[in-house]
Amino acid sequence: MTPPPDQPLLTSAHDRWVARDAAVVWHGFTQMSSYAENQPVMVESADGHELIDVDGNRYLDAISSLWVTTLGHNVPELDQALREQIDKVAHTTLLGNGNRATVELAEALAPRVPVPEPHFLFASDGAAAVEQALKIAFQYWTNQGVTTRNRYLALGGAYHGDTVGGISLGDGGFGTDVFDPLRFAVLRAPGYDDPGWADTACALIAAHADELAAVVIEPLVQGAAGMWVTDPQSVERVGDACHEHGVLLVADEVATGFGRTGTLFASEQCRIRPDIMTIGKGLTGGYLPMAATIASRRVYEAFLGPDLGERTFYHGHSFSGNALCAAVARRHLELFDELDVLTNVRERAGELAILLEKFAGERPGVVGDVRRRGLMTGVELAPPADGLRWGRLVCAAAVRRGVLLRPLGDVVIVMPLLTSTPDEIERIVTVLGEAVDEVCGT
Ligand SMILES: Cc1ncc(COP(=O)(O)O)c(C=O)c1O
Repeated sequence: MTPPPDQPLLTSAHDRWVARDAAVVWHGFTQMSSYAENQPVMVESADGHELIDVDGNRYLDAISSLWVTTLGHNVPELDQALREQIDKVAHTTLLGNGNRATVELAEALAPRVPVPEPHFLFASDGAAAVEQALKIAFQYWTNQGVTTRNRYLALGGAYHGDTVGGISLGDGGFGTDVFDPLRFAVLRAPGYDDPGWADTACALIAAHADELAAVVIEPLVQGAAGMWVTDPQSVERVGDACHEHGVLLVADEVATGFGRTGTLFASEQCRIRPDIMTIGKGLTGGYLPMAATIASRRVYEAFLGPDLGERTFYHGHSFSGNALCAAVARRHLELFDELDVLTNVRERAGELAILLEKFAGERPGVVGDVRRRGLMTGVELAPPADGLRWGRLVCAAAVRRGVLLRPLGDVVIVMPLLTSTPDEIERIVTVLGEAVDEVCGT
């Protein structure tokens, strides 16, 4: 088909697909008027740790497809689990009914999560799991006749998804300011960029205990804030303060869960036992959209009462507990042990630390700070002026070299797959160095 004279001739498969894409798809967190100019990667397939675009170019997935993919793409065992479940049933409702695949998943997860005697309320995305957590925490108190505990404490820099509840807990940014009139107020302690954050959080918990339904934190790493990290003891102290004052502790492990920080859940390192926990992203190995809100027995039992009674949690999504997701998630959990994934994470994280220290040391004044827990890493660039878009340009230069990276502002996020090899870790840091040198003139 010949394009009309005012349209450019699109020669590569990439350009043709991007044009088709921009004509009908609306991408999240993306200014669509510059979408095509920013040279998006147009994926057609994958091969293990690499993505293959419509022109056959390969990219090492160094962002784990926005922090969801754990073991890689086309994992034979996960593919097989999906095939086996699809021959049984793809989806049935969990509202008032059950399905075997979901029961088996919850049974497998129960002994592995840090929540005491857990019950799982499934959802499809992290934000929905957080929303459920907020509502559960609120109703937990009202079910017991306590109507004054109706506020939440969240941290500076927090990100908990982009539903209205999520952005209320969140500390703004990412263009959410436009929704300020919709956001409900929360009590705000500082984030992990402030070394005194836990002292302030504990003081606020003590001072406002009577009003607080829950404290919501991302244990150990505030991901979307730019990979700000804290020490486990600080998180533990905040957990203790919640316990002491009877405030529910919600651990949002949507990003930190499933091995990213070197343990299955970051809460384990912090020695906290959350009353409520949210998981998502890596739950299905990044294959399918599944998340969950996990409630401790104490929380769950506050909802028990007469059939159709008001203590019931009147909340549930159409695809809650989807059987295909559940089957893949259960097999994924088994693979963590079979492949000894956590040992690999810790070993690769050690290598990444050494390589990034050298990389940063060789580029003083250009690389500001490297923050990391396990394989969750943020490399903060230090542009000499505003508006230079170093983060975006460095990632684009890395993509041209076949390593897929994506920034948060001027923080380059490095989130290697949990099964990365030493060579892949080295390749990521080498390419990052070349990209920084190209863009920042080092
Ligand atoms: C800590 C945390 N909570 C919640 C979310 C929202 O998850 P989703 O994007 O699946 O809605 C994210 C996403 O990055 C996150 O990092």
